[in-house]
Amino acid sequence: MNAMRSSHPEAAAESNLPNPLPSSPGFRDTTFTENHEVALHRWVPWIAGFSGSFVAGVLDTVRQRGKMRVLDPFAGVGTTLIEALKKGDDTIGFEINPYAALACKVKANAGHYDVADLDRLIARFEAYGAAASWLHTRPASARPAGFRSRSPFFSDTVERQVLACLDFVAAETTDWLKDLFHVAFGSVMVSFSNYTYEPSLGTRAGAGKPDIEDADVFGIVRRKLQEMRDDVIRFQGWLARHKPVPRATVHPLSYLDHAHRIEPRSIDVLITSPPYLNNYHYIRNTRPHLFWLGLAQTPADLKIIERQSFGLFWQTVRSGPPVALQPDLPHLAEQIEQLRALHPEKAPYGGSGWANYAAAYFNDCQRFCAVTLSRMRPGGSVVVVIGNNILQGIEFQTDRLFAEIAEREGFKIVDLHEVRKRRTGNSIVNSSVRIGAARQRVRLYETAVELRAP
Ligand SMILES: C[S@@+](CC[C@H](N)C(=O)[O-])C[C@H]1O[C@@H](n2cnc3c(N)ncnc32)[C@H](O)[C@@H]1O
Repeated sequence: MNAMRSSHPEAAAESNLPNPLPSSPGFRDTTFTENHEVALHRWVPWIAGFSGSFVAGVLDTVRQRGKMRVLDPFAGVGTTLIEALKKGDDTIGFEINPYAALACKVKANAGHYDVADLDRLIARFEAYGAAASWLHTRPASARPAGFRSRSPFFSDTVERQVLACLDFVAAETTDWLKDLFHVAFGSVMVSFSNYTYEPSLGTRAGAGKPDIEDADVFGIVRRKLQEMRDDVIRFQGWLARHKPVPRATVHPLSYLDHAHRIEPRSIDVLITSPPYLNNYHYIRNTRPHLFWLGLAQTPADLKIIERQSFGLFWQTVRSGPPVALQPDLPHLAEQIEQLRALHPEKAPYGGSGWANYAAAYFNDCQRFCAVTLSRMRPGGSVVVVIGNNILQGIEFQTDRLFAEIAEREGFKIVDLHEVRKRRTGNSIVNSSVRIGAARQRVRLYETAVELRAP
């Protein structure tokens, strides 16, 4: 990477300030929304993450040595990695979604960027937008051929500016600047598109919102770059307190298939939040980013990632032969069979498809525990934030089931901390559950499952 360590004077001043993100002591509310206000975390919103202060609190609570090695196998946009670095710990992340992995890498490497180079990029971008010569030249960039959307993703006026932005970044030769620009663009691109998150990606028209006919694309991207530049300085100030400078490695790969890249018995602490049993489709929801940033070329590229994703997706497993449950948990097997028997008339869209999905999910929980066990230092801490779920009216206490699977694989259960008493349901689940003859509301909650490695 063409990155250089910065000696920016503002970074030196920042290093004397207290860390503006206080750790919440112990295991507290995990909501990601707090991240929208905090330096670095605010770069890219991501669904179902946890907050930086949650991670900071866990690191303080479980710390057994001065400098630790912290792993997040489902790193998303890097909340765990950033908080570990701020505390001076070395850190490793795996993330299968190429857009999230890019954001995670760009953030985790921010301690090494030369801010003067970034200032020059922003100035060049501003001048390029203002000169408007791009208006009179045919763009070299084009709408990605493999990207299909129900209605035009951008209006013609917006798309013309988008292609000019992509031409601008295509001419950039410094890798980290190019990556950072892509993350800036990716984080704002839906805001000037005809799509919206509700929380899944859909058309604005479908959500009752007017289309975006025109927008100041250059201004929006430039302001994002400026915000990122200010955060880089702040982050470098925090890192300057630690000698040696902590290191981060981000693998844009499936943890389940590539955990062997981590030295055995080397991880002190693992903090993560895997995909939940709610079938939230991270890949479909980031299709615009993946295609427009050149991270995917064809739908087949996405299929490969889908098949390697933790828990798979209902769309991937619903039609195949019955998926056998691997963990030896008779009460879970019974629940899955109950689910399988629902709505046989709907074929894979009924209980059998959802039972396949649930079995594949818990099989991956077992796989996760098995591969993790060998990477953990004896006595190391594992903290997994996970919620309960409702499939076709049947509640799965995913947190408790996960803990039981982990115990069978050799982990010791330390505690199940209820970190959120209530969370909003997902559109595909039915939050009323049949209990006997009556229908009851079931509370969706989130738990930090705390385990210890043997
Ligand atoms: C709940 S999110 C994690 C969010 C993260 N805590 C944050 O703050 O950004 C779960 C992540 O797991 C990723 N993922 C799914 N399967 C994976 C796999 N096999 N290996 C690595 N990452 C995976 C998804 O792409 C998603 O970003």
